[in-house]
Amino acid sequence: MSGYAGLGRVLVVMPTYNERDNLSTIVGRLRAAVPEADVLVVDDGSPDGTGAVADDLAAADAAVRVLHRARKSGLGGAYLAGFARGRAEGYDVFVEMDADGSHSPEELPRLLSALRGADLVLGSRWVPGGAVRNWPARRMMLSRGGNRYARLLLGLPLADSTGGFRAYRSRALACLDLDTVSSEGYGFQVELAWRAHRGGLRVVEVPITFIERTAGESKMSRDIVAEALWRVTWWGVVSRARRWTLGPRSG
Ligand code: GDD
Ligand code: MN
Repeated sequence: MSGYAGLGRVLVVMPTYNERDNLSTIVGRLRAAVPEADVLVVDDGSPDGTGAVADDLAAADAAVRVLHRARKSGLGGAYLAGFARGRAEGYDVFVEMDADGSHSPEELPRLLSALRGADLVLGSRWVPGGAVRNWPARRMMLSRGGNRYARLLLGLPLADSTGGFRAYRSRALACLDLDTVSSEGYGFQVELAWRAHRGGLRVVEVPITFIERTAGESKMSRDIVAEALWRVTWWGVVSRARRWTLGPRSG
């Protein structure tokens, strides 16, 4: 019996935008590493034909499905759409995972095992045992700096709240009031980690090795960084103001 038996039905939500050369490989590895998990690819009308690749994978394997969205509308929205579909179908566990090979499916059983004692498990690059391979110095600094900023402003006791390789219990997601999530880009990750922490959920970090993609391009942009920065700043200011006006026990 595997270390994550008893968690129920697992859905891996995988957002894609122009991942034609990565998708088949990653889905194949995932199906081999965790055969019990179903996969939902959320493609934003990728101009490179990723959606058709996903449809072919789904036609060949009943455990793989595709959600097509008309246009590129951000990582946050793609995950919310995937979660909504999966919750309507009664899944018990939701996994977030990039499609470009940066997150190793072979590490997923470890994340799922940790979920037995947690509500949210974060794959973490910045805890002992975690690592990043092949990132340029400026991406390292961005990730380190972003995480430091989130810790400082939000008081988040997490080493890696910006990462995108995670596992949620469905009942934990239900506590996060997903209808009011505002982040469109990668700040979505911080927003959900922060909501989970504030909501008193058990958030656990397990080390992962993030390996930079070898095909295609990152969609990280100045706009995505700017959005995350102003949102984290805003959340920090609002939660402090609440603490001052309502007293130390709230906020
Ligand atoms: N559907 C959809 N829509 N998918 C998207 C979008 C979008 O607007 N933007 C990005 N993706 C998909 C990509 O195709 C890929 O599968 C995954 O989301 C991650 O995108 P990358 O562009 O490869 O991200 P990264 O490698 O630069 O960033 C990684 O690190 C960030 C900071 O730690 C990811 O792990 C992010 O999740 C993380 O926030
Ligand atoms: Mn990537």
